[in-house]
Amino acid sequence: MSEERLIIKGGNPLKGEVSIGGAKNSVLKLMAAAILAKGKTIIHNVPNLTDVEIMLSVIESLGTKITHDKTTKTVTIDATDITDVTAKYELVSKMRASFIILGALVSRCKEAKVALPGGCAIGERRVDFHIKGLEALGTKIKIENGYVSAHAARLKGADVYLDIPSVGATENLMLASVLAEGSTRIQNAAQEPEIVDLANFLNTMGADIQGAGTSEIIINGVKQNQLHPIEYTTIPDRIEAGTYMTAVVATKGKAIIKDIHPAHLTFFNDKLLKMGAHIKLIEPTAIEVSCRGRLNSINFVTQPYPGFPTDLQSMAMVLLTTADGVGIITESLYENRFMQVPDLRRMGAEIHQERNHAIIKGVKKLTGASLKASDLRAGAALAVAGLMADGTSTIDDIYHIDRGYENFEEKIRALGGKIEREKVIDNVKGLYNESHI
Ligand code: EPU
Repeated sequence: MSEERLIIKGGNPLKGEVSIGGAKNSVLKLMAAAILAKGKTIIHNVPNLTDVEIMLSVIESLGTKITHDKTTKTVTIDATDITDVTAKYELVSKMRASFIILGALVSRCKEAKVALPGGCAIGERRVDFHIKGLEALGTKIKIENGYVSAHAARLKGADVYLDIPSVGATENLMLASVLAEGSTRIQNAAQEPEIVDLANFLNTMGADIQGAGTSEIIINGVKQNQLHPIEYTTIPDRIEAGTYMTAVVATKGKAIIKDIHPAHLTFFNDKLLKMGAHIKLIEPTAIEVSCRGRLNSINFVTQPYPGFPTDLQSMAMVLLTTADGVGIITESLYENRFMQVPDLRRMGAEIHQERNHAIIKGVKKLTGASLKASDLRAGAALAVAGLMADGTSTIDDIYHIDRGYENFEEKIRALGGKIEREKVIDNVKGLYNESHI
């Protein structure tokens, strides 16, 4: 893979309309869930992302047969036979979300050997609740040589309380308990729309899951022969939608964000409105976003759904950098999710960070600079900052952005933004050629 960078010339208001793709954080789990039923499951609205490719490689390595039509955005997973229960470190280390295969394998095969994902740039990201919950269902777990080995002679429903409403732990437990004997109750469950999507997917397959979208989920175990392959369409990506909403507001533009579920963005909408943006529901699946004049500063704390999404924290921070007054962000989910801060400061932002608090004093404008994506959402936020700044910015390490945003620069360009991708041909980061824009 050759290195690439984005070159962004800021200052153009984004205008027009943009269509939002399928939710990355849902489809990855739906693909894992597909192995529960024997036969061919078809998933539509699958975004073309690096993370999707990695998950498909994990599932294929188990002996399933995969077809992926990128034009129609459809994936077919034939899980008639599972011939291997190991998810290797080489794959899991590329994308920690693939750890979700643990619950699916325990469910279908009663055994699994899955590499432990380890931490990542934004935090420690432990999996202790996943393990504790699987043990409560009767799974014997051993951690050896960097792998979790799980074996369950019989899976039995149980009551599991999660200390934190962890998205991944809720999903792993839902998957593991679908075929368990009796009922499982997950208390303090995550309530994200992606959890509801997974429950709908599994229920369509023949599972019996109730309460998804609330803090208590009940999974009544069914028999393997009650599960059947299905055809299913993934929900829209609320974080991709929030990213484009931010880009429109940041550039003082006016655009329609379509193919979304507006209700999934309630909390984020509310904060944008408080800052002075305009948001109008124009269809059940489309909103018009616009902004004129200087924004107001706000304070917020990131929280599990339906609170302010941590995945949009970096976007809101970009807006606060030039808002009127002082805004305070408290990041409550991850230990290290302010990685955009040093680069935003290099663009002229005034941000004081103390542990998980960031205090942002709005300045008049940001100016373009050479930047580096440190993770997916911090990278996308820097791109938005580049679109709103005076002058030209370059962003290196954009493979992070490609993990979660399909056709990022094509979509921005269609909205009138000046953005190009180029191969990095020298080792001197930060060089760019304005003739590309
Ligand atoms: N946690 C534990 N122990 C556990 C599980 C979680 O301590 O066993 C902690 C984590 O360390 C973290 C917090 O709980 O500090 C929340 O983690 P959670 O399990 O809810 O997150 P996740 O399932 O690992 C998903 C998304 C993230 C998103 C979070 C929170 C996927 C693939 N990832 O992660 O998305 O930030 O939920 O909403 O679904 C992204 O898309 O950029 C991204 C990071």
